[in-house]
Amino acid sequence: MKIIVTGGAGFIGSHTVVELIARGHEAIIVDNFSNSQPFIIDRIKEITGVSPKLYQVDCTDKKALKQVFENEKPEGVIHFAASKAVGESVLKPLLYYRNNLTSLINVLEIMKEEKVNNIVFSSSCTVYGSPDVIPVTEKTPIKKAESPYGNTKQIDEQILTDFQKANPLFNVSILRYFNPIGAHPTGKIGELPIGTPNNLIPFITQTAAGIRKQLTIFGDTYDTKDGSCIRDYIHVIDLAITHIKAIEKLKKENGIVDVYNVGTGVGSSVIEVIESFEEATKQKLNFRIGNPREGDISAIYADNTKIVSELEWKPKYNLKDALVHAWEWQKKLQK
Ligand code: UFG
Repeated sequence: MKIIVTGGAGFIGSHTVVELIARGHEAIIVDNFSNSQPFIIDRIKEITGVSPKLYQVDCTDKKALKQVFENEKPEGVIHFAASKAVGESVLKPLLYYRNNLTSLINVLEIMKEEKVNNIVFSSSCTVYGSPDVIPVTEKTPIKKAESPYGNTKQIDEQILTDFQKANPLFNVSILRYFNPIGAHPTGKIGELPIGTPNNLIPFITQTAAGIRKQLTIFGDTYDTKDGSCIRDYIHVIDLAITHIKAIEKLKKENGIVDVYNVGTGVGSSVIEVIESFEEATKQKLNFRIGNPREGDISAIYADNTKIVSELEWKPKYNLKDALVHAWEWQKKLQK
């Protein structure tokens, strides 16, 4: 299939483009490089031998985006392009509403005009808020969003569902990611946080590399096995592959909305992640226990039964693999 990948130079987008190419699809990247780097496109070529076509376009620019669809005539869209930092969204809510809602509305309007019927959408387990029962299934109630970022994901899911209802031939797959980590095993593509990382794994690798002095564990008095927060960390390649399986399924469908949790089903605490990192990479981490971070929930991990059975998918990599790949990427970045 020829597929437009918005945000295709980003962390999850670039790994998805690699996996699309590996499975014989044609990926057309649309990216404004607001949170990604052009050299990633060369790296995709180094890994796959194929140079994906690139349009440097912002998805909030409907005219420019429409031109891409007219030129390319894709069969489907994987829509990653969005702002994704929870804390920043609290400080700059309008930026988040503009980017994350306008982009999706533009994509859908153009898909309707150009008669493109299949979309895979990047959602997040953040839509579950702080769940009463874990693991969460796709039927776990959606709670009031805890940040503008989370709210944009909830509203985007609603927009997609409403749009599909009004356009019965349209197919939607909503993927609710848990915590994507790791990097490509070649060390050629990975996460590129701007400034001080918010997320745990880049903070760990930067601390091990000496870029950050010390890692702070945000709280050790939660009601969990060791008092630190629990998350479901999924290797970015395992996550990338779900997008391809999801869009291949949509191509055979006529008017559906699929919703999948994309996680490993294993919950790991912050302390367990640190221990696994130290063990797998033989690096000693300088860390301390700090106060809980505002807005953090104590524990969440996925019930992934639905995606495992319907998409015949299962994660190939474990936590240690992902941590080793993230570390290899960090080391190569500094060379
Ligand atoms: N953590 C630390 N120290 C750090 C950074 C993180 O202890 O320096 C802890 C956090 O408290 C949390 C865990 O590591 O318990 C993971 O934190 P991340 O920031 O890596 O990830 P979050 O689970 O907070 O957020 C992720 C995505 C969001 C998404 C959210 C949904 O980054 O986009 O999951 O729950 F909204």
